[in-house]
Amino acid sequence: MSGSTTIDFRAVDNILEKYNYDKSYLIAMLQDVQGIYKYLPEDAMTYIGEKVDGLSPSTVYGVATFYAQFSLEPKGKYEIKVCDGTACHVRGSMPVLNAVRNKLEIKQGKLTSRDGLFSLETVSCLGACGLAPVVMINGKVYPQMTPDAISIVIDTLLKEERGEE
Ligand code: FES
Repeated sequence: MSGSTTIDFRAVDNILEKYNYDKSYLIAMLQDVQGIYKYLPEDAMTYIGEKVDGLSPSTVYGVATFYAQFSLEPKGKYEIKVCDGTACHVRGSMPVLNAVRNKLEIKQGKLTSRDGLFSLETVSCLGACGLAPVVMINGKVYPQMTPDAISIVIDTLLKEERGEE
């Protein structure tokens, strides 16, 4: 499902109307679009860039990439957050991160696995430093992770997906 999303342009029009096609509300417009799709589809950004006076698709794209709150790729069903704050880093979060990348074949700079099931990001602190290194998947904390442990967690999720558990 990593292909492009079909956009409901009427929904985007409604958002633009809400802000009176005023380019100074671009951030709010993008937040609303992300509220619908959970990320910013390229077609929606292009559309906004063409429809709003004073903007261009490249301006919209530039703004979207600047702010960390915006995601340019769809998130997976399972959102994996590997903590790379100081406590987690010194206790080996990078090998855990690399194990996730290798297992799910998510290349450096990519967010989502090819099947669209998993998305991966690093975060700076999950507030559970005593349990470092910590991984969070869909809000659930997995403490004291190792490459082997996270691999088993992912295998379990994959089995559940296939209805084997
Ligand atoms: S540094 Fe990872 S939970 Fe705080």
